[in-house]
Amino acid sequence: MINIRRGSIEEVVEISKKIPEFNNPYQAEDYQAKFNTKHIILVAEMNNQLVGFKCGYERDFSTGKFYSWMGGVLPEYRKSGVARDLLIAMEEWCVNEGYKILEFKTLNEHKSMLIFSLKYGFEITEVINSPKDPRKRIVLQKQLKP
Ligand SMILES: CC(C)(COP(=O)(O)OP(=O)(O)OC[C@H]1O[C@@H](n2cnc3c(N)ncnc32)[C@H](O)[C@@H]1OP(=O)(O)O)[C@@H](O)C(=O)NCCC(=O)NCCS
Repeated sequence: MINIRRGSIEEVVEISKKIPEFNNPYQAEDYQAKFNTKHIILVAEMNNQLVGFKCGYERDFSTGKFYSWMGGVLPEYRKSGVARDLLIAMEEWCVNEGYKILEFKTLNEHKSMLIFSLKYGFEITEVINSPKDPRKRIVLQKQLKP
């Protein structure tokens, strides 16, 4: 059974170290710096073990957008609905807080994340090319339904 609850920065840092796609995971200070506006940290547990997280913060409330910044699931617990349950919980919270759009950005190389997001109603709104980094960044948005 998957249990979704509010988590701490320390828990997110612990989980993210075990997610192989994050080559150089953010430290607690990086999260603290981002979370100086309204934010949410969600963690997922299975068998009393931390197996995934999803967190985000408000960037500009006037646009109605909430930014889902980071998330991931431990490889051995994937394809069990953990990311789905984390997304449902984040969407519920966003709707209650008055946000209209959930947005996130991911690297083009994160195929599982792209497939997952498209399946759950996100649409690609922008492809960002950077002169400093050959990797494309994909911006995705989902209109939230109250
Ligand atoms: C993307 C990710 C979060 C998905 O987590 P998950 O818990 O396995 O996802 P779920 O089990 O909730 O998946 C729900 C659905 O999404 C789709 N999906 C998820 N991963 C998929 C994959 N690798 N290939 C194809 N479809 C996939 C499936 O349709 C799945 O439904 P199914 O189980 O009926 O097939 C996970 O693969 C992950 O942590 N990836 C690395 C993190 C990352 O890339 N972060 C990017 C920084 S933003």
